Amino acid sequence: MKLALLGGKPVRHKPFKSQPYVTEEMIKRVASLLREKRLTRFIGSPVEGSRRIIGLKSRESEDLRDAFSVLGGPSVRKLESEWSKKHEVDYSVAVNSATSGLTAAIMALNLGPGDELICSPFSFTASATAIVAANVIPVFADIDPETFCLSPESAEAAITDCTRAIMPIHWNSNAGQLEEILSLADQKGLKVVEDASQSPGMRYRGKHLGTHGDAGVFSLNEPKNIMTGEGGVIVTHDRDIAIKCRLIRNHGEAIVDEDAPDDLLINAIGYNFRLVELLAEIGVDQLQHLEYLNNIRKENYEYLVQRMVNEFGNCIKPQKITHPESYCPYAAGFRWLASDIVIHRNIVAKVLRSEGIPVADGISRLMSDNPLFQRQLAYGRDHCPFSCHLYKNRAIYFIRDLPNARKLQDEEYLGFFQMGWPNTPEDMDDIIQAFKKILDNKHHLSGKASIINNSGFVSGR
Ligand SMILES: Cc1ncc(COP(=O)(O)O)c(C=O)c1O
Repeated sequence: MKLALLGGKPVRHKPFKSQPYVTEEMIKRVASLLREKRLTRFIGSPVEGSRRIIGLKSRESEDLRDAFSVLGGPSVRKLESEWSKKHEVDYSVAVNSATSGLTAAIMALNLGPGDELICSPFSFTASATAIVAANVIPVFADIDPETFCLSPESAEAAITDCTRAIMPIHWNSNAGQLEEILSLADQKGLKVVEDASQSPGMRYRGKHLGTHGDAGVFSLNEPKNIMTGEGGVIVTHDRDIAIKCRLIRNHGEAIVDEDAPDDLLINAIGYNFRLVELLAEIGVDQLQHLEYLNNIRKENYEYLVQRMVNEFGNCIKPQKITHPESYCPYAAGFRWLASDIVIHRNIVAKVLRSEGIPVADGISRLMSDNPLFQRQLAYGRDHCPFSCHLYKNRAIYFIRDLPNARKLQDEEYLGFFQMGWPNTPEDMDDIIQAFKKILDNKHHLSGKASIINNSGFVSGR
């Protein structure tokens, strides 16, 4: 069949649907909150009993009778309680995004100027910018080429006297070599913050993702496995970290009383990361459907991968997943092994799009390529924390070559976001069909330097 780019009929005419899952029950719940005029119920000032309340386990805080609280309103506390039950963790702290959640979690570890935190470069910008937002230096280590997640060996090589923490990023919901990262952190006395933005409801070695480290953070933004539009949840087993996250979320310095210990105030400096009641209520409803929604992702993904491997195994390889039994991906990641059949990945992506198949050819850019880090900018005219006198490595900070991440980004990565409801295996068939077309037309497409536009072949990217 003729490629759409060369005047043929595209494989797919209708867009893939990746919509929020909205139920009648959810509409009723939100309407009822609106009737109650319950938009938010946080109090950002000390009230009687705040010191006790702020340390309650999430399951206990649900039972508070106060209409307004330093822990937010009934819907926020219900979401946290349900989240904790689902993820088997004592503390869940709902926030207005995973970006805020990551920033709060890092600050809650009492990290700050002079400290380094190691992460991989292959993620959405917020994973690394949250580190700088917390006044900490991000140090980029390479990914494992198969899992697309942080390489334990590269992370170990990046440790310095300033390293205080590691952030495994569960890219496309994959835990990667989390066990090795945890054991490295344990040996070196480092804290672990999991970026589990894409991994709600998934287990790794029996325990939920997000709950393996000192703190974990989930995103509830619109395209995620469950979504409230914007939102996030921090989880931790550690009461002190939970208290600090709750203070950071809600004007901590205003909530604590006069004789609060200094430690409680460190890094709790006036942020407002609160989630509103309406979004929390949507989250409560969505959480009830998490298994259903995750199972749809699992079914679509397994179908797609099986057919891809069976039919095109010599030129495309799925991301290596380290917890396949519970894997329900946010997006399906693949490596295009261009060298085998000499069609560049960029050409594949362009042809797929013209065939009606949206695809990510890499991420928008490696986080380590961001000018913010390349030029070591950040706060103020003097570029703190990079230039801070407390930062002992300021003269030698550099961004390593990250060959695995570079290769994945520039040559191999293909990502499909169409895994979630209401897509079905039938929709996956269109992706397969488009690959078939590419391979049937490989004589038109081979030649690494060339790339196609709508009028034919042109050179370079
Ligand atoms: C891995 C990862 N980390 C962090 C974020 C930031 O999440 P949010 O949009 O909730 O701030 C995202 C969102 O796309 C993400 O995918």
